[in-house]
Amino acid sequence: MKDLFEKIYKDKGPLGKWASQAEGYFVFPKLEGEISNRMKFQGKEVITWSINDYLGLANHPEIRKVDAEAAAQYGSAYPMGARMMSGHTDLHEKLQDELASFVSKEAAYLLNFGYQGMVSTIDALVAKDDIIVYDVDAHACIIDGVRLHMGKRFTYKHNDVESLEKNLERATKMAEQTGGGILVISEGVFGMRGEQGRLKEIVALKEKFNFRLFVDDAHGFGTLGVTGAGAGEEQGVQKDIDVYFATFAKSLASTGAFIAGDQEIIDYLKYNLRSQMFAKSLQMQLVVGALKRLDMLKTMPELKAKLWENVNTLQSGLKERGFDIGTTQSCVTPVYLKGSIPEAMALVKDLRENYGIFCSIVVYPVIPKGMILLRLIPTATHTLEDVKETLAAFESIRERLENGTYKRLSAAVMAAMGE
Ligand SMILES: Cc1ncc(COP(=O)(O)O)c(C=O)c1O
Repeated sequence: MKDLFEKIYKDKGPLGKWASQAEGYFVFPKLEGEISNRMKFQGKEVITWSINDYLGLANHPEIRKVDAEAAAQYGSAYPMGARMMSGHTDLHEKLQDELASFVSKEAAYLLNFGYQGMVSTIDALVAKDDIIVYDVDAHACIIDGVRLHMGKRFTYKHNDVESLEKNLERATKMAEQTGGGILVISEGVFGMRGEQGRLKEIVALKEKFNFRLFVDDAHGFGTLGVTGAGAGEEQGVQKDIDVYFATFAKSLASTGAFIAGDQEIIDYLKYNLRSQMFAKSLQMQLVVGALKRLDMLKTMPELKAKLWENVNTLQSGLKERGFDIGTTQSCVTPVYLKGSIPEAMALVKDLRENYGIFCSIVVYPVIPKGMILLRLIPTATHTLEDVKETLAAFESIRERLENGTYKRLSAAVMAAMGE
């Protein structure tokens, strides 16, 4: 009989197989210092474009103070147990009420982690005879939630409303046979390329089809809409989103998440979300910290205004210089270049070592072969000087990419990394 671990010894998985070349630099890099526009990477200062601290709350002195006081008052244990058993408090309820009111929903429920919470919410919303229709480029947490579903599911082409409509026709026929309903899942903002989910057009399909809409607005919450309530507010369809999700891990710069919707639906979820029923309650310092962060989000519009000043300056500067930034409609700023994976590695090394720019890099198989995606996340802590330096650096690395410098360097990079 085969040893269970045999396959692990042989195959480290699609990402793990690159570990010896990439770990510590391209993956699992260690960014040091306080979370901000400039941090340290391998001892050198870099402009940090890879952290979703959109509003710059992570290291805001008022936040640091509230976090520290809450930790001193409650420690990191309280409350113990799951919400349902012994982990419930007034402050959990207060935070839920404030979140619900902020996103214009009747009720909200806290989740310990966005990822698990999404998986569990999908699981709780559908039964075997229901059908899920979701965007093919959905975040892993949506894909994992759908994996738990025992019934039928269809993907539609990324942000393609015509494809959604076709799949809704199929789903409707199937639902008529099974006697179930339909759940459509989209993101408010797709985090890799930055497009907003076409929520307005999806909602318009409710005229023709009978479905409920679940939106993961991880990147929209705090960054989009007049008040920062997210992609639904931005597109004027918040009330038509049946279940709204956002995480604290981005604009609120913390840990935790929530879902919001009609009271009866949230009450149902409260009693049926397995990831919350069978896991410890969100710890108090995170609850107190989220209350403070939400308050700042609501009362300090200048944070979002500064974020967007940086986003607009960066995105228009890139476009003016002829860079392809795709179809982003959010703060997420992708820059598409042409090159091989070794070239991409040499380019990123050059950006980090010689230009002091730290951004994430995405290559095949996430995007087509021969393409390099550099992903920049502006925040309210960046300065216009950071943007200026970055634009100059990008012009310079593009020239080096085009004149073959990285082709030559890539051989040396691979050798230095033990290839
Ligand atoms: C679209 C989206 N959904 C859900 C999550 C998961 O949230 P959390 O980090 O709170 O688990 C993320 C990433 O953080 C995300 O980008």
